[in-house]
Amino acid sequence: MTDLDAVRTSYDRVADNYVAMGMGDLSLTPWLRAALTAFAEDVRELGPVLDVGCGPGTVTAFLSDLGVEVSGVDLSPRMVEHARRRRPDLRFEVASATELELDEASVGGVLGWWSLFNLPRDVLPAVLASFARALVPGGQLLIGTHVGDGDVARTEAYGGVPVSWTTHLWRPEQLAALLGAAGLELTAELRLPPPLPGMGPQVVLAARRSG
Ligand SMILES: C[S@@+](CC[C@H](N)C(=O)[O-])C[C@H]1O[C@@H](n2cnc3c(N)ncnc32)[C@H](O)[C@@H]1O
Repeated sequence: MTDLDAVRTSYDRVADNYVAMGMGDLSLTPWLRAALTAFAEDVRELGPVLDVGCGPGTVTAFLSDLGVEVSGVDLSPRMVEHARRRRPDLRFEVASATELELDEASVGGVLGWWSLFNLPRDVLPAVLASFARALVPGGQLLIGTHVGDGDVARTEAYGGVPVSWTTHLWRPEQLAALLGAAGLELTAELRLPPPLPGMGPQVVLAARRSG
C-alpha cells in the first residue's frame, strides 16, 4: 500500500466519527471564521474557488454561504459521500491534491484547510506551486495547519479509530518561505495557540498571485 493509499483508507475509516464529533465546526472558532470571511471577500469576484481536502465539506459550505462559487475535492471517498449528503447543491469530487492537474489561471482561490499536513515534506512544494499556477492574477491561496517541528506518526484518531498517517508539522516561517518559492506574495498570517489541551498551535497563511 502506498502512503497515499494508507492516508485515504485512514480518512475513510475516521470519516463517520469526524462528522459525528463535529470536527471542523466553525461556530466555535471565530478567528478561523474571520480568516475565511476575509478570504471570501478577497476572491469572490475573481473566479471559482477549490477547497482541496474538503473533508465533509464544512468549510466549502461556509464559503458558499458567503456567496463564493466553490467546489471541493478530497482523497477520501467516504468524506466526499458525507460532503455530498450534507450539501447536495455543491460539487464534490474524489481526488488527491497531488494529482489535480489544474489549468493555468483557472481559479480565484484555493484552500488547503488542515488538509496538506499529510503531504510528505518533499511533495508539498510542488503541490503549492501547482496551486499558485492555477490562480488568476490577484487570486489567493489560503492554508491552515498544525504548527511545530518534526513529524508525528499517528496510529489512532478521532475517537480511537485506527489510522496510519504522518502529520508533518511546519513552522509558519517555513510555510511562508514555501509560498514565496511558489511565486506567491504573503498577504496575511494568523497564529493561534493550541485550541485544546494536548494539541499544538495552529497557523493560517494567505498568499496571493501578483499581477
Ligand atoms: C483534518 S481533515 C480536514 C478536512 C476539512 N478541510 C475540514 O477542515 O474539516 C483532512 C482532510 O484532508 C484530506 N486529505 C489528506 N490528504 C489529501 C490529499 N493528498 N489530497 C486530498 N485530500 C487529502 C483527508 O481525506 C481529510 O478529509
